[in-house]
Amino acid sequence: MPSATDHCTPSAIIEVPPHTTPELNHVLKHDSSILALIVSKDSIYAGTQDGEIVVWSLDTFQQTNRIQAHKRSVMCLFLSEDASLLFSSASDPIVNVWCPRTMSRLCEIYSTQDSFGDIFSVAYSAQHDTVYYGAQNTSIQWVGLRDPARRVQHDCPDHPDRRNHRFFDSRAAGGTSTPRPTDERYDRIPQSHMVLETDRRAYKLFAHFGYVYCMLMTKGATAFADSEEDVLISGGGEGAIKVWKLGGQGVGPDGIDKGLEQIMKLGEDDLESVMSLAIDGSFLYSGKLRGVVELWDLDTKQRLRVIKDHKGDIMSLSMGWGYLWSTGSNGTSSKHSTVHYENYQPNSYQNVSQKYQCLTQWRAHDGKILASAVAEHQGNLLYITGANDNNLAVWVVENPPQTEQEKPEENEDMMISSLREFVSYKTISSKPEFAEDCRRGATFLRTLFRKLGGDVEMLSTDNNRHPVVFAKFNGKLEPKENRKRILFYGHYDVVPAGATEGKWNTDPFQLKGTNGYLYGRGVSDNKGPVVAALYAVTDLMQAKSLDSDIIFLIEGEEESGSRGFQETIRRNKERIGHIDYILLANSYWLNDEIPCLTYGLRGVLHATVCVQSKSPDLHSGVDGSCMVNEPVTDLTMLISKLKGPRNRILLPGFYDGVLPLTPEEDSRYNDIIAVLMAQNSQGIPTSSLRGSLMARWREPNLTIHGFKTSGAEEGSLVSSHASAHISFRLVPGQEVGDVINSLTTYLDEKFAELESDNTLTVKINNQAEPWLGDTDNHVFRTLEEAIIKAWAPLFDVGTGRDTETANGNDAKPRKPLYIREGGSIPAIRFLEKEFDAPAAHLPCGQASDSAHLDNERLRVINLLKSREIFGFVFGKL
Ligand code: BES
Ligand code: MN
Repeated sequence: MPSATDHCTPSAIIEVPPHTTPELNHVLKHDSSILALIVSKDSIYAGTQDGEIVVWSLDTFQQTNRIQAHKRSVMCLFLSEDASLLFSSASDPIVNVWCPRTMSRLCEIYSTQDSFGDIFSVAYSAQHDTVYYGAQNTSIQWVGLRDPARRVQHDCPDHPDRRNHRFFDSRAAGGTSTPRPTDERYDRIPQSHMVLETDRRAYKLFAHFGYVYCMLMTKGATAFADSEEDVLISGGGEGAIKVWKLGGQGVGPDGIDKGLEQIMKLGEDDLESVMSLAIDGSFLYSGKLRGVVELWDLDTKQRLRVIKDHKGDIMSLSMGWGYLWSTGSNGTSSKHSTVHYENYQPNSYQNVSQKYQCLTQWRAHDGKILASAVAEHQGNLLYITGANDNNLAVWVVENPPQTEQEKPEENEDMMISSLREFVSYKTISSKPEFAEDCRRGATFLRTLFRKLGGDVEMLSTDNNRHPVVFAKFNGKLEPKENRKRILFYGHYDVVPAGATEGKWNTDPFQLKGTNGYLYGRGVSDNKGPVVAALYAVTDLMQAKSLDSDIIFLIEGEEESGSRGFQETIRRNKERIGHIDYILLANSYWLNDEIPCLTYGLRGVLHATVCVQSKSPDLHSGVDGSCMVNEPVTDLTMLISKLKGPRNRILLPGFYDGVLPLTPEEDSRYNDIIAVLMAQNSQGIPTSSLRGSLMARWREPNLTIHGFKTSGAEEGSLVSSHASAHISFRLVPGQEVGDVINSLTTYLDEKFAELESDNTLTVKINNQAEPWLGDTDNHVFRTLEEAIIKAWAPLFDVGTGRDTETANGNDAKPRKPLYIREGGSIPAIRFLEKEFDAPAAHLPCGQASDSAHLDNERLRVINLLKSREIFGFVFGKL
């Protein structure tokens, strides 16, 4: 038997393919240590030090439940084979049985034994309908889940909560006892439908000569008589592993129930505690203190291998996809190749040692990793770890090599990995030094569109601006003339993320998933929505139900005012062809809960006002008095004439075009405010809410962004040059051209009044026309239908409220809120006019997405729902 201990150090790793380290996919943050972990088909369950069970959805990484489950730390979680029952054991010391879907407490189990200690492990056999639990006092105890004799009807005098406590209930000299600590959290533990008291005889004391740290339930391996029988395997503090036969009937001469009979013992009582177990056919792995992993052969009872895997204790082991996964209390995780027992030849250790090797080891947590689990979700292989840094980490494991036919279907996770790569391109259009990255981002998109079945062309722009990616997905409806042609407009460029460097919690160009959100520059504005629309088309093509032609125009200059876009589109109009509907997705909900549709955007006009002297910068002491008109002085006087009190813009006739408030529009504000107030009355007075929405949506505005001067900011120079960057937000009824004329005339006039010998120039930068959509048109109707369908089932997700309350006491599925926006998108009105087609705008993100700011994010569920909504709309229009 090999007794030498191998070390899993980098030098011992031979030929490790670079892809073998799993990729961090999502982090779920909690507020106490994660001690136990189990995964079902669609959810992750974590047991915490505070006695809670927290549940997250594997689809969306939203927290879907959080309950106080125990009075003290949850030590172990176990899911029945059919996933209908969830078991938890804790240091209260109680075992609870839960409905994994609703998290209602089906059953509470306690032992009447004294000094039972923590219940470290729990397992359930469906064959025997019996729960087994292992405790600190070296015992294993068991109880039939539906044993009528064990049901406690009234109060339970032997319940651990009521039993005398050596400390609290012993009376001091004066006859008073110490008050027991009470905790209001205890009241939150759900009532149990049933209470079971374990039979004193169903109790194996000294099951181990140490704490019973871990258990697993498995079908009898080849070593056992009947390979279909459930067997229990337990690991103890003394270092031994025991295999137990279950279900014996009656009571033995020792007065102990025969329900648990030891049939095998592996290992010595060497006090190297067995903390974790994993099984793979007839091979059993045990994880021990001080980083040791042992490999046992259950057929021959031989210990085939011992390796030193981690610096810390091995608190959890998992088997998955032919790999053994282990975690160390020092924060590292590792992945081992395992023996395939079909190929294994008894007594040939050589082939065992070849295969049982560490492929990769990585730092997974800043703390002790106490729990782990493996799961398969939508074609992705997931390895999940939980630690005392309060975090759960979800890792994606590279799929084992597949043949051509086995290629995975395009799925949800492909969308997120596409977005991950998309975000990694620093497509900052406003900075020349990122021109290459923009180009690469566009190329990435072209490749992606092509891979998913689109015909793609790059439309070049004037002055070498970033290209427009033009992709076409052909619908199947024949004849071609009957097909609707839908244009999706979006942009691949982003605003910079460097100016506020340090305020991002993560690298803005590396997608990071945390608590159900994806973080990264551009995830919400506009890369996430573009990817959602693209995968919606893929879904329809795969289902062979795409009738219409879908055309994508994804530009690379939107954040820079769509420079060159109009010319490019005009030049390629033939190629793009006729368009029936225009869709875009580049705005946000009004809050974080209620789906919205956007039907209006403001226009924008950016300008630079510049005053230039004929002289160079001068010294203020020496020459100050010579320069009668200082440019900075001229400029500030001029700019000060643009606005009056209360933000009033002083350009003559500026407000003339602004449309009056119609009664319909007025009542729309009332509706929105009613819903907002019903949802979260955060003490915002209605009037100011209404006022601020109106100001943002239907009133123009002027912002003075900043000043630039040629002279040093400090010191004694008179700047020869001063400029101010200003911008107007314009509303429907105002023409950008008129505002430009009025601005230049007004500034010229006011400048003339200054009698300055400097020169004034007004340079127009970006401009966009305001947009007002028709909410009654076919696109908006279809979008509304899609939103109701997509969001109704889990409408108020995350807030725990049901649809009824979220709807403001209106039980019908909620309609989206119709909103407008303060921001601008230059292309939208242009496209409407150019193609003579109506546009509609689906906001994908939430109000808290922080587009253009630090830590921009998009909620995973919003991304998934947007894909669903676009799928519906592209299919139906
Ligand atoms: N997605 C925004 C438009 C937007 C902003 C919608 C706020 C809803 C709320 C777009 O990407 C953007 O940033 N537009 C610029 C346009 C400008 C560069 C011409 C804007 O609004 O400032
Ligand atoms: Mn933007």
